[in-house]
Amino acid sequence: MARLLLIVGGGIAAYKAAELIRLARKQGHEVTPVLTNGGSHFVTPMSLAALAESPVYTSLWDLKDEAEMGHIQLSRAADHVLVCPATADLLAKMAAGVADDLATTLLLATDKPVTVAPAMNVRMWQHAATQRNVAQLRADGITVLDPDEGAMACGEFGPGRLPDPEAILAALPLGEATTAPLAGPDGPLSGRHVLVTAGPTHEPIDPVRVIANRSSGKQGFAIARAAAAAGARVTLVAGPVVLATPAGVTRIDVETAREMRDAVMGALPADVAIMVAAVADWRVEPSDTKLKKDAGAPDLQFERNPDILAELGEHPDRPGLLVGFAAETDDVVANATAKRARKKADWVLANDVSGDVMGGDRNRIHLVTADGSEDWDEASKDAVAQHLVTRISESLS
Ligand code: CTP
Repeated sequence: MARLLLIVGGGIAAYKAAELIRLARKQGHEVTPVLTNGGSHFVTPMSLAALAESPVYTSLWDLKDEAEMGHIQLSRAADHVLVCPATADLLAKMAAGVADDLATTLLLATDKPVTVAPAMNVRMWQHAATQRNVAQLRADGITVLDPDEGAMACGEFGPGRLPDPEAILAALPLGEATTAPLAGPDGPLSGRHVLVTAGPTHEPIDPVRVIANRSSGKQGFAIARAAAAAGARVTLVAGPVVLATPAGVTRIDVETAREMRDAVMGALPADVAIMVAAVADWRVEPSDTKLKKDAGAPDLQFERNPDILAELGEHPDRPGLLVGFAAETDDVVANATAKRARKKADWVLANDVSGDVMGGDRNRIHLVTADGSEDWDEASKDAVAQHLVTRISESLS
């Protein structure tokens, strides 16, 4: 199971990208599509999003996406980048290091392996300029697949056709992915229902503004992914984040703390609940109309939100193993120990969020249980998730 960032260029072969997404998902991979302007003339973002079960990115200037997940993170969150189909124009831009849209910016910013599947008219493929660009890309360490030979949509014959999606996927070194394959019914968590919350909540102030926090959702999504890989039935209640749904996970999208609470309670019973979300503690009564600055500083009246973890701690259907997180900036273990008792959780994973943990890819955990606390080495969020799932499997067995 790997995370694939798929850049779909403009060209008649773009429709084959849809089939490639379907196949990749079937094999358990996560696909985040990026559609170039040219590509959007051949396939719609909607069809790619539906097949990928992921948001589709199209523009560098989409402020919402840049705020929530900049182009650097988008390329870092992948295990592999695939350009399919790559046009002659895209190859030329890549070879020259041009970054004038989202796709080319991602390709310049990525530190992950890149594979390119070109598709174009035979003369364009054979043109000295294209061949020069292909040689340059290969010299730069990019894998450029050879196009197939055959009859082309333009009526000519020769090399330039996009290979079959099966062949393209088979050419990718996806076995080097960081996450384990789905274990299915043989996994240590098979037959168990694991409920996970992830991401921030957004509390509306007016139709255009919200109270939010910096949670990216990455740690919670990694835990959901690892639990599914261990064979669990996983329900992931996600706040507003732009992350692909891990394979085998049932995702419920929510916005506010109260929606998150309702979704969590509606998903019970569960054997294990892992509350990773950074839930807003406060909400305001939102204005129906946009607050205007000439009316002066808004007089926001804050009300307490439900504490979902604490409600689960006292619920008649309390999950057998209740795990919370504690985001702390000081006295990390002491605060987490108090939080564990106050919220009646079994375990609390405390993390120091004074650095760049929120939004970053690494985490340092102190596990607080009834027996005291233990320090885990700093690790990637994926590795933390794997470790937690192993500990949960051991404790349930
Ligand atoms: N949590 C929750 N509902 C809330 C607030 C927090 O379910 N309204 C859960 C989080 O998902 C996490 C744990 O409680 O598992 C601790 O969250 P944290 O934000 O660290 O603690 P707070 O309850 O906000 O406490 P404090 O403000 O004292 O840090």
